[in-house]
Formats: sequence, C-alpha cells, structure tokens
Amino acid sequence: MKVAVVEGDGIGREVIPVARDVLACVRPDIEFFEVELGYARWERTGTAYDDADLHDLKSADAILFGAVTTPPDPDYRSVLLQLRKGLDLYANLRPVKGEGFDILIVRENTEGLYSGIEWTEADRACTLRVITRRGSRRIARFACARTRSHLTVGNKANVLKSDVLFRDICLEEAARAGVPCTTQFIDSFALDILMHPSRYDCIVTTNIFGDILSDVAAFLVGGLGLLPSANIGDRHALFEPVHGSAPDIAGRNIANPIAAVRSAALLLEHIGEPEAAAQVEGAIKKTIAAGITTPDMGGSATTGSFGSALLANLRTPGRG
Ligand code: NAI
Ligand code: MG
Repeated sequence: MKVAVVEGDGIGREVIPVARDVLACVRPDIEFFEVELGYARWERTGTAYDDADLHDLKSADAILFGAVTTPPDPDYRSVLLQLRKGLDLYANLRPVKGEGFDILIVRENTEGLYSGIEWTEADRACTLRVITRRGSRRIARFACARTRSHLTVGNKANVLKSDVLFRDICLEEAARAGVPCTTQFIDSFALDILMHPSRYDCIVTTNIFGDILSDVAAFLVGGLGLLPSANIGDRHALFEPVHGSAPDIAGRNIANPIAAVRSAALLLEHIGEPEAAAQVEGAIKKTIAAGITTPDMGGSATTGSFGSALLANLRTPGRG
C-alpha cells in the first residue's frame, strides 16, 4: 500500500504530519512518499506543480493532502483544480457528523463554475459555468449509491439554466435507483442546513455550491478545523481537510489537526479498513473528552501536543 503525502503550504505542513503518524500507527505496512507542491515551491522554483508530480501521484494507492495557498497572482493557476482534473477526482465527499445529524455532502468536483474556462477582456472578466450531462450523471449516480435514506439536490434552477440540467439528471438518476429525492434552492438551503441539520442525509450539488455549503455546515461541528473530505475518481483518490492553508495562523503550531486526521480516516475506509477508521475516530473523541483541544475549540493544546495525546489514545484502545 503506497500513500503519497502532500503537505502543501501553511498549516498543511503542521496538520499533515499528525495525520501521517496516525496512519502509520494503525497501518504500519503503509509505504509513504512525499510530493512537494504548492505556492512555497512556486516561490522557490517558479513551478507549483508539473506533469512529473501528476505521474508520481498517479502511482499511489491514495493521496493524503494538506492545503495549498492560491495567491492573487493572475499567472498562478490553482494547483488543486489542476489536480482534481488531472486525476479526474470527480466526487468530493464531505461528511458532516454531529449530535443528531449525519450529513454527506457530495460535491461535483471537475466542472461547474470551477471549469477553469475563463478569460479577461478590456471591460469584463468571464468564467464559464459548464454543466455536462456526463458530469451530472456520474455525480448523481455516485450520490445515489451513498444515500442511506434520502437525497437532496442543492441547486439554483430557478435562475440558472445549467442547473435545470443538473437537477433534472439528478432526479432521473434517483428515480432509476429508487432513491427518495427532493430538491432545494441553494440559498435557502444554506440556512436550513444550519437550522434543521437532522432533516438531511445525502446532498448532491454542483462545484461552487458544494464548496460554500460545506464551509457553512462546518458551523454545525465547531469550525473548519474539524471537517474532512475525500476526492474520489474511478482510478485515484485524494484525502484532504476542507480547510485551506490558513495563513493567519500558520507557523504557530496551533492549527487543529482533527480535519486532517479525519481525512486520513476516510482514506482508511477507502482502502478497506473501516475498523481502523473507527479506531481513529474513537481516539479523537477520547482526546477531546479528556479536555485536550486546540484554541479554535477553546483549548490550549498545540497541534503537536494534541497529536501526541491522540497517538497515545490510539495505542491504548478499548478504554474509551
Ligand atoms: P482557510 O480554510 O485556510 O481559513 C479560514 C479560517 O479558518 C481562518 O481564520 C483559519 O485560521 C481558520 N482555520 C482553518 N483551518 C483551521 C484549523 N485546522 N485549525 C484552526 N483554525 C483553522 O480559508 P481561507 O483563509 O479562505 O484561505 C487561505 C488560503 O487557503 C488561500 O490561499 C486559499 O486559496 C487556500 N485554500 C486552499 C484550500 C485547499 O488547499 N483545499 C481550500 C480553501 C482555501
Ligand atoms: Mg472551500
């Protein structure tokens, strides 16, 4: 089992080592290799990411990814968008679990407003929102397969023609799969998910709406430091926290590593180790219950001291 590790920029370099230690602890046979990409590398070498990196990443069974900084530089192309496209990671899974709710946001990850088709003219700048039948169908099928009780299609079909297509294909696929399905306009949805999270099970939506909805939903669990994600394609899979490189707190050893560790747990599930994943989640709960948390959760633990406590709990399971 080969796992590529990309720490990336900012707090990616602080939280990923914790997640990697956790993986190594529960699966000592995993072979890790590092791939450096992102803004820091761009500053040093002029290249953020190239074909050789893609080749290396493709050789891994799974990728553990931190976060990359996207600077305002107009010549800089988002590394993550290139990666998601290059590895065809079309499904972005973002589970949001808490007391009384268990939501799975399934975000289309390769097209929509993040199609990357954009240009600047003299008096305007344009970004093309591309929704294809194929892209909608495959994400709808993916979401139906992971729906436990019912599917909600987040959309803005009242305004966007491209979302009429997306919504209708989702309804069609849900009917075909026998999955109960309703639709919800994304703006009121963003409020309702906070007010009535227990009403939702699986949610499927387009790229930018899923991006925003999952950050909104982070409120339900206590912030961005807690939410993991999986980027899945037919051949490759990449696991990363929902949060970014957090330049405001980077380098201070105070970032919450839970989102990264939970992303590692999703990696474990993906490679067929659900017990190990459950063990990791148990150790997280036990560490929090012992009052060891980083400042974003009200505690005074550092990234490193949380990580050490977590590893200790992981090595002595069964007493939680
Ligand atoms: P962000 O997610 O990095 O930070 C938002 C806020 O949440 C900040 O105040 C940060 O301190 C806090 N936060 C995030 N993760 C935390 C953690 N683990 N523990 C404690 N606090 C945490 O989003 P922001 O500030 O919008 O973007 C910063 C940079 O990250 C930008 O360059 C952006 O392009 C990039 N980014 C990268 C992503 C990725 O690599 N997947 C995703 C989102 C943003
Ligand atoms: Mg985001």
